[in-house]
Amino acid sequence: MTLTTNPARPAAGPSPRRRWWRRPWVAPLAVVAIAFVAFSLPPYLSLDPAASRVPAPESFPPHFAVLSLHVVFGSVAMVTCCLQVWPWFRRRHPRAHRLLGRAYVFGGCLPGGALGLVVGLATPFGPVARASHVVLALLWIGCTYAGWRMARQRRYADHRRWMVRSFALTMSIVTNRLWGAVFTVALWPQLGTTFHGDEALLGSTVAALSSWLGWVLPLLLAEWWLERGDAARRRRRVPTP
Ligand code: HEM
Repeated sequence: MTLTTNPARPAAGPSPRRRWWRRPWVAPLAVVAIAFVAFSLPPYLSLDPAASRVPAPESFPPHFAVLSLHVVFGSVAMVTCCLQVWPWFRRRHPRAHRLLGRAYVFGGCLPGGALGLVVGLATPFGPVARASHVVLALLWIGCTYAGWRMARQRRYADHRRWMVRSFALTMSIVTNRLWGAVFTVALWPQLGTTFHGDEALLGSTVAALSSWLGWVLPLLLAEWWLERGDAARRRRRVPTP
């Protein structure tokens, strides 16, 4: 008995009858990505180190330049990935999907991740945040590169899996900022007690918590989502004699 599967077929998307507007998450995702970039990018295009939202460590003079380039490449990754994960767009515009895919990989994630690794090693927010940045940067580069290699080898099911992980890591910058706001509000009342009045210690604690939770939870969610899809596909396979 064999199972009817076709591993070389591009990512199993929804039924062709499914209309583009029946993807309720696409528009909110694009709004979040564009709003995040519109808020984050301007200070780093100003070429003025005083505009940086991250205090520059004295031990690393090129911090602002590296951070600014990181933000530019990160913005390319965020904006392009919104179209890339949209099944309707992939099906209707396969050539544009390939071109944008190259922009996502080579004009977004890979340079953004390499520069994120450098600013991550130099972070002023302490060793716990540093460890998170380094692991995240390596995973971002690794998942994206694996996704690109799989597409080159026409292993589209694997391509899709690695790119879903890469996408979760790209968008994790947003949940990172949300956790930052939550922990700042939650821990601020403890400034005089737990943190002995030390605002820098409070800042490092918030940065450490938000940077780890920021990407670990979206990555787990992506794994769960992939697993759920695989289970549904296994149930749908039709045994043939
Ligand atoms: C997923 C891998 C990423 C890594 C490892 C990473 C790493 C970092 C690091 C280390 C910093 C400096 C802050 C610190 O020292 O704690 C930073 C700042 C920043 N990153 Fe990323 N980043 C990533 C993705 C992104 C993406 C996709 C964007 C999208 C635009 C982005 C936008 C920014 C911005 C705007 C800042 C400056 C902080 C601010 O102004 O709020 N990053 N990133």
